[in-house]
Amino acid sequence: MAQQGPQKSAIIIPDEPPVLPLESLSYPAHYAPYISNVVIPYGLVLDRIERMAEEISQDLQASCDPEEGLHAICVLKGGFKFFTDLTDRMQSKNCCHKSLKISSHFIRAKSYQNDQSTGSVSIMKLYDLEVLANKTVLVVEDIVDTGHTLSKLIEHLHQYKPKTIKVASLLLKRTPLHNGLFPDYVGFSVPNMFIVGYALDYNENFRDLKHICQISDEGKKKFANKPT
Ligand code: HPA
Ligand code: MG
Repeated sequence: MAQQGPQKSAIIIPDEPPVLPLESLSYPAHYAPYISNVVIPYGLVLDRIERMAEEISQDLQASCDPEEGLHAICVLKGGFKFFTDLTDRMQSKNCCHKSLKISSHFIRAKSYQNDQSTGSVSIMKLYDLEVLANKTVLVVEDIVDTGHTLSKLIEHLHQYKPKTIKVASLLLKRTPLHNGLFPDYVGFSVPNMFIVGYALDYNENFRDLKHICQISDEGKKKFANKPT
């Protein structure tokens, strides 16, 4: 994991993103009142992932044992789309000259309620991860916000004694609350706003929206988890 700032190649989405009207793009009508702006259109998400796949494959091919290949960890639930699109492209013939074997693993991390971090991160191991011993591991995350979830996750994975842990995050939020741990690979640097879509959720809603969007105040109210 890198200690310095995000990768130079990350696309920076400005604090005031260009206004891309929802009605000019295709989106599920049931979300219309609950989104205020499209922050990253789906097409751009996919283009950026294609480039990230080339970069990551080139870097990691050298450190992977050809028999063992790369062990990629999908951080559920928000990472499932990025994980699938990234690993698909890393295995495509156009991506790199040599083929790279990729084994898939899944882990669940949860810390958000509404648009706030609860401050406690729960990590759920879904399958045995003992196989990671001495392997090159790539953690695939949807978003790094404060960095607390990622720190907990890395701490958790160290117990399996992998040879190397690299982290790819589609999004890195520019928040003053960030703890200083940066992913090795970043797709987009995004403003400090709550975003949804492309598997990112607000209380389990919006994962089925393809574009990455800013949730509206109405959306926050409509889908809020009320205290019990
Ligand atoms: N959206 C969805 N999930 C998140 C975010 C966000 O902006 N930040 C941290 N988890
Ligand atoms: Mg979430």
